[in-house]
Amino acid sequence: MDNQLSNTINNLSESETLAMTRMSRELIAEGKDVISLSIGEPDFNTPQFIKDAAIKAINENYTHYTPVPGYPELRKAISTKFKRDNNLDYTPEQIVVSTGAKHSLANIALSLLNPNDEVILPAPYWVSYKEIVKLAGAKHVSIPSSIEQDFKVTADDIKKAITDKTRMVWFSTPCNPSGSVYTKSELEDIAKLIAQYPHIIIVSDEIYEHINFNDKHESIAQFDYIKDQVVTVNGVSKGFAMTGWRIGYIGAPKWIADACTKMQGQFTSGTSSISQKAAQAALEADSSCTLEMRKAFEKRRELVLNLMSDIPGLKLNNPKGAFYVFPDVSSYFGKTDGKTIINNASDLAMYLLNEGLVALVSGDAFGDSNCIRFSYATSEDILIEAIKRIKNTLALLH
Ligand SMILES: Cc1ncc(COP(=O)(O)O)c(C=O)c1O
Repeated sequence: MDNQLSNTINNLSESETLAMTRMSRELIAEGKDVISLSIGEPDFNTPQFIKDAAIKAINENYTHYTPVPGYPELRKAISTKFKRDNNLDYTPEQIVVSTGAKHSLANIALSLLNPNDEVILPAPYWVSYKEIVKLAGAKHVSIPSSIEQDFKVTADDIKKAITDKTRMVWFSTPCNPSGSVYTKSELEDIAKLIAQYPHIIIVSDEIYEHINFNDKHESIAQFDYIKDQVVTVNGVSKGFAMTGWRIGYIGAPKWIADACTKMQGQFTSGTSSISQKAAQAALEADSSCTLEMRKAFEKRRELVLNLMSDIPGLKLNNPKGAFYVFPDVSSYFGKTDGKTIINNASDLAMYLLNEGLVALVSGDAFGDSNCIRFSYATSEDILIEAIKRIKNTLALLH
């Protein structure tokens, strides 16, 4: 039968992180002992008090359709959280709760972008940004960075990429995949630049806020002169180990919040009633549960950096947040084990999967073809074994 799919879906790429996870599951189903470090989710379970809030919500019959932008009490809790944690003033009317931060991002793109608009993506960027921009019919403009710059771009780099079609700048801090964290002064430079272009919106993805090994998380919306041009995106998936609950949210100028509400009113309606009550409990609590997980991630980062520094040919930065390391593996390009030639990071990821039985994600998916992403959201024993396998498998290349 002819391909009857839409151009939209034919042009969309499968998420490479999910593809890698799928491939490793297939190998596991064949009986292979694969270690998967490809997925971006905490290995912790959701804290008990959050689960209890969900059970209570079910028993209290929070089982009906919810208001499209989220329950008023949840939006109030988010407004309080923004003030408490980030010193940001967003009223509940400026907040929209969606089915994960990914959905929040899709709402923003579909609400604000027209065909041929340009969206600047400092690379490396999270895999889905490019595809979501494409879904909205717009074009992504990637700005490269390198490990020498700690994978961060400057205001000057962004300025050079701005054209009269530029509509948005999207980035995450802490960053997936590099773990880099923008400092207050770096954000201020970017804010000052974008304030000169009132039609440009900054999408600031802060989903890894709580997995930040610096002293304090910094939001770009803190600078008053830029706040009306910023959409702050966040959620409970990473910081509270709630990936399956599917709750993300934005704080935005009201006209953008209204547009996102209208968009999701036609697509998904309000997100799950039970998950919203669970998220409210998470956001109203003190931050001790996120703190414990952050400490565990920080310890694992030290372990991973230590063990990896022993592998010849890997260049590493010191990620200040999230739970990834993003080594530059370009010194292996052109090498072979006698069977497979490694031409790029994707070849290396496949080689490490097939020969080393460790699943990682090629940097190509993130707009940086010299690197490979390694998630350390798993136990120390598994990390030690995975790095041993990587080291031994890379040693076969010459
Ligand atoms: C940078 C970034 N933004 C957004 C998301 C999506 O989060 P959610 O699970 O809330 O949709 C992820 C998840 O991997 C991410 O890494």
